[in-house]
Amino acid sequence: MEIIKTIEQLQEIRKTISSSVGFVPTMGALHNGHISLIKKAREENDIVIVSIFVNPTQFLPGEDLDAYPRKDEADKKICQMCKVDYLFMPDVTTMYTKEEILIKAPNKSYILEGKARPGHFDGVLQVVLKLFNLTQPTNAYFGKKDAQQLSLIQQMVKNLFLPINIVPCDIVRESDGLALSSRNVYLSETQRKDALLISKSLYLATSLIAKKEYSVEAVKKRILDTMSNLDVEYIAIVDREFNELEIVEPKNTIILVVVRFGNTRLLDNIWI
Ligand code: PAF
Repeated sequence: MEIIKTIEQLQEIRKTISSSVGFVPTMGALHNGHISLIKKAREENDIVIVSIFVNPTQFLPGEDLDAYPRKDEADKKICQMCKVDYLFMPDVTTMYTKEEILIKAPNKSYILEGKARPGHFDGVLQVVLKLFNLTQPTNAYFGKKDAQQLSLIQQMVKNLFLPINIVPCDIVRESDGLALSSRNVYLSETQRKDALLISKSLYLATSLIAKKEYSVEAVKKRILDTMSNLDVEYIAIVDREFNELEIVEPKNTIILVVVRFGNTRLLDNIWI
């Protein structure tokens, strides 16, 4: 595995690759969720590029940019083990200049996650576009856990005519159901236990829908009842394009929840 730090190095290497490239962009602190994306990329492509870059433009003032877990040495080992060909680890000054061309995410970036974090998705799209331009992947791998991010990246690829296949990947969970996240390390033991109610509520909602209860109100109530002791920020039931639904549409519905544990926000969702 070769570690790349500069744009020039990456561009030189990219020029020499004529076979398929699988790209997994990350902010590091790699866990089994990232590993599953890298493994899929490894299976489906000749060359695998992973990036690790804690992107400042997607953090709002007061968010956890400085505290965001950084585990470069452990991450390098994981990438090596997963047989990554190139690991791109740029500095902030490598990725950004003082004055930038900005990307403006569409209106649907200001609902749900974007409502809680206005401007967050502008930063995500900006860095992902830069990374796509550098790596020019055949296939790029994103987790369904960040469902709104995935949907906006799919739209960006479509709107900007980028010749990249976006591969949505299933959420990876701990054996007790907790969705993997780099932010899980912030949870205390009690919060970690309470957080299990999140996936439980989603499973209960799914079984309600399996019994043909399609009323969004009823499904939301079941989720809220299950998490009644938690600080629920939102429950949303949307179609794959992120339009709010009143009636669950089997095969076209995503149920999203966000729960706060102190300063930590945990996201989870299930695709129906
Ligand atoms: O999902 C993430 O880890 C980040 O938002 C991404 C896509 C790597 C962009 O910084």
